[in-house]
Amino acid sequence: MDFKYYLPTRIVFGLDCIIKEKELLQELGGSALVVTGQSSARLSGALDDICKALDSLKISYDVFAGVNPNPTFDNIRTGATRARETRPDMIIGVGGGSPLDAAKAIALLATNQVDVEDLFKGGLSRPALPVVAIPTTAGSGSEVTPYSILTYDALQTKKSISYPSIMPRVAFLDARYTMTLPRAVTADTACDAFSHALEGYLSSRANPVSDTLAREAMQVLGKRLGQLAAGMEPDLEAREDLLYAALLAGMVIAQTATSVIHALGYPLTYFKGIPHGRANAYLIEEFLHFNREHLRNWPKLDDILDFMQVNSIAELGDMLRNLTGQPPKVTEEELARYAHLASQAKNVTNCPMVPSEVELLVMLRNALLA
Ligand SMILES: [Fe+2]
Repeated sequence: MDFKYYLPTRIVFGLDCIIKEKELLQELGGSALVVTGQSSARLSGALDDICKALDSLKISYDVFAGVNPNPTFDNIRTGATRARETRPDMIIGVGGGSPLDAAKAIALLATNQVDVEDLFKGGLSRPALPVVAIPTTAGSGSEVTPYSILTYDALQTKKSISYPSIMPRVAFLDARYTMTLPRAVTADTACDAFSHALEGYLSSRANPVSDTLAREAMQVLGKRLGQLAAGMEPDLEAREDLLYAALLAGMVIAQTATSVIHALGYPLTYFKGIPHGRANAYLIEEFLHFNREHLRNWPKLDDILDFMQVNSIAELGDMLRNLTGQPPKVTEEELARYAHLASQAKNVTNCPMVPSEVELLVMLRNALLA
């Protein structure tokens, strides 16, 4: 056995965890920039809680509430300008994956006088400001990863940066913040978490620790995704399970990164506006068929079906379609373009059997045109 495992994030999970553990913020300094999206930070109660905690600790703060879903470079530049003006000691991201990822990019740009595009080149001279992450969805796992995924218009896709210094120092996970999520967002983000656990579990970069985390994540998701697909409304206990599973799946991809499903899903989000987790969900069944075809007796594939409480890959596909509905209309030309873009993505090489561009096209075609 030979592996490395790195997780510098202090994870605090539980109801009212921000208020109960607010002193952790004091260790990071005396001023903050709070980065949020348009509404979920406020609607969920998370923004109120963090503001109350900062007020009571006499930590000064400013709020940048302008992160768009799938943040663009301009969006990040606006936040970075605010950080450079207000010179905070820490950046606090509150929201779904997009605000958390934006907070990380802003934390890097606050200390490095470079443009957002330069973040993709590496070689920055200074570490990011400390990041605190408060997720209000159960999906991205960004609260425990070194990644920030941004919309890269010049490449017509979403693309990630990875820096150890943007791994959040503290992650506060309170499932109450996910109670107000609409059903579609709950389903889409849960599918994102499932794809993280699954891609990590089947990755050539998997290790015994990431596998343990992935197994637990999928066992929890097997029960809860099944209930969601059957039409059940998640109660607080189910919401806690989903948040826990998303956290574990984030810990998995922090080690393994993502792979083919994410590479194929990003163009669907970029060109068709499909929410990230839903785009992944459309592709999971075909990715599993591809692995089954090339790696016939791979016990990990059977494990996944057991964890998800289904008897076949097709049954898993039916469950996911119950959650996501039918995929968007696409043309052959569009699929060819998406397959080409995905073939350029680094994460496709994280599979034991790396698909060619033609094989990526076949997966897309089967998933979206069949
Ligand atoms: Fe994802």
